[in-house]
Amino acid sequence: MIPQSFIEELLHRVDIVDVVERYVHLKKAGANYQACCPFHTEKTPSFTVSPTKQFYHCFGCGAHGSAIGFVMEYRGLNFVEAVKELASSAGMTVLETRGPDSQVRPKDAPDLYALMQVATRYYRDELKKSEHAIAYLKKRGLTGEIAARYGIGYAPPGWQNLTAVYSDYGAPALVEVGLVVTGEDGKRYDRFRDRIMFPIVNHRGLIVGFGGRVLEQGEPKYLNSPETPLFEKGREVYGLYQARRAIRDAGKVVVVEGYMDVVALAQHGVEYAVATLGTATTPFHVQKLLRQADHVIYCFDGDEAGRRAAWRALENTLGQLADGKHVGFLFLPDGEDPDTYVRKFGKAQFESLLGQAIPLSAFLLRELTGRVDLATHEGRAQLVRDAKPLVTLITAPTLSLLLRKRLAELAGIGPGELDALYQIKMPATPHVPQKTAPRRQLSIVLRLIEMVLFAPQLAKTFEADALISARDVPIEGVQSSELEALGRLLEFVMSRPQLPTSGEILEHFRGTPNSGVFGQAAAAQARWDERRLSEEELAVEFCGAGDQLRNLLRRAQIGALHDKLRDEGWSPEDKDRYRRLQQRPAAAEK
Ligand code: UTP
Ligand code: MN
Repeated sequence: MIPQSFIEELLHRVDIVDVVERYVHLKKAGANYQACCPFHTEKTPSFTVSPTKQFYHCFGCGAHGSAIGFVMEYRGLNFVEAVKELASSAGMTVLETRGPDSQVRPKDAPDLYALMQVATRYYRDELKKSEHAIAYLKKRGLTGEIAARYGIGYAPPGWQNLTAVYSDYGAPALVEVGLVVTGEDGKRYDRFRDRIMFPIVNHRGLIVGFGGRVLEQGEPKYLNSPETPLFEKGREVYGLYQARRAIRDAGKVVVVEGYMDVVALAQHGVEYAVATLGTATTPFHVQKLLRQADHVIYCFDGDEAGRRAAWRALENTLGQLADGKHVGFLFLPDGEDPDTYVRKFGKAQFESLLGQAIPLSAFLLRELTGRVDLATHEGRAQLVRDAKPLVTLITAPTLSLLLRKRLAELAGIGPGELDALYQIKMPATPHVPQKTAPRRQLSIVLRLIEMVLFAPQLAKTFEADALISARDVPIEGVQSSELEALGRLLEFVMSRPQLPTSGEILEHFRGTPNSGVFGQAAAAQARWDERRLSEEELAVEFCGAGDQLRNLLRRAQIGALHDKLRDEGWSPEDKDRYRRLQQRPAAAEK
């Protein structure tokens, strides 16, 4: 747990403009800064960063948030990671209060990342000295530049070479990070010997593990770091750190099977390739990749093993899909892998193959129908049965609908019948709002929240007591969750000695029961920006909306009192309240 006070302090110290500028080139535009949105592809800039609000938003895709939110989205980090990253750039140290699962290392514990860094440097230096290893990499078509970009090194033969760089070779931490192994006789020796070393870099640019390849023949061909406190295979993606930029530029990411495939593709100018680390593609991998790009292409060998790996990847992808994301599968010609293919045929031909990747839905149907005989009832029944666990995993509504439709066609039944078999309940009203339908009127409360988020000083002009007295009365057209959020928002802004920025407000409510309402209000900020109201116009509109809400509340309270009079009669206080409610001028009532 990171204390709220720390978050507030952090947001005071960092400037969102500096933070965004680290990743995106910003141009000044009036009081704000602009750029082409890093979260979707566009040609004219609609991504806006406001230094006064400490808030960013995109008119195009609706992305929005504080400096912390930006780092989370852009770097694909979780909240704590993003806070840590920002804090370290601001020279602050995160002091986590001990939560149930916080892993607190003792103060004098060695820095495991630093140990990995030392090894990486050592292996790189050794590569420079080894003609044998250099010749091997040259033979595989790599230049020094690409080797340097991926931090490739060489672990020389010999059992205890690392004694040269670690003063305490016996330190348990070296075993903990997987660089040193303890034999049955209790002796220690280097895990990696006479191997080409591929460092595995995490999203923060820190080295968490290695893959080591034998130079000629030998088993295993690749020796990988074991799972360590730094390295979890199912979560890391090889080459992602180096590829991040290119992935954003290309709008796509290619997932291949091997270290050498990633490096060889980069060597030939295909810089947006990454690899899973000798494991099946996990949902974590997929989630990470879909955050970086809308288009993910799995590239597998054309053999039976490749097909099986692709199927695993498909299974683990279904639950991560959203409409608008494209996932494709590319099977290379027999006997080729991306490394051999790109070396033989070059970048252009490889990219044209990517263009022919088979879409996930087509791959799914092709595999499923390939297993059965559609000419028989039994075969079609099996198709329906086989597809069920897969189709019901799909979270993207449109894709799911289209697939079910196609499946029903193939099985020769109606789509409704298929849904009934799968026990899928369709929403009573169509999910997609129709163009001709009148736009649902924005709730007055949400509008007030949006406005306070947009211009927090407005909170000072709202008499919050009207909200408090009406808290328990149900009001038609007013959601109690929104009303409560408004109350808390006003309370928060008023309680601060200094007016909080929009970014601070959002962070204050992150993870609270109100965060959904604030997320909605944040997403609407671009609309308020676009209207370019003067401060005065804004205040007038806010007062109007405030009056409207107060009237709603007043009428609801009066209605409740009428009910009470009818059902049980009034107490003297009720009579008093009724009189006071009646006296209020219904100024803005329309
Ligand atoms: P491959 O056997 O297809 O090798 O393993 P490759 O990538 O083509 O390697 P080169 O071209 O011969 O150098 C694919 C991936 O599976 C993992 C590695 O991540 C490898 O890159 N693997 C393979 C291992 O972890 N251990 C092994 O022994 C073999
Ligand atoms: Mn290969």
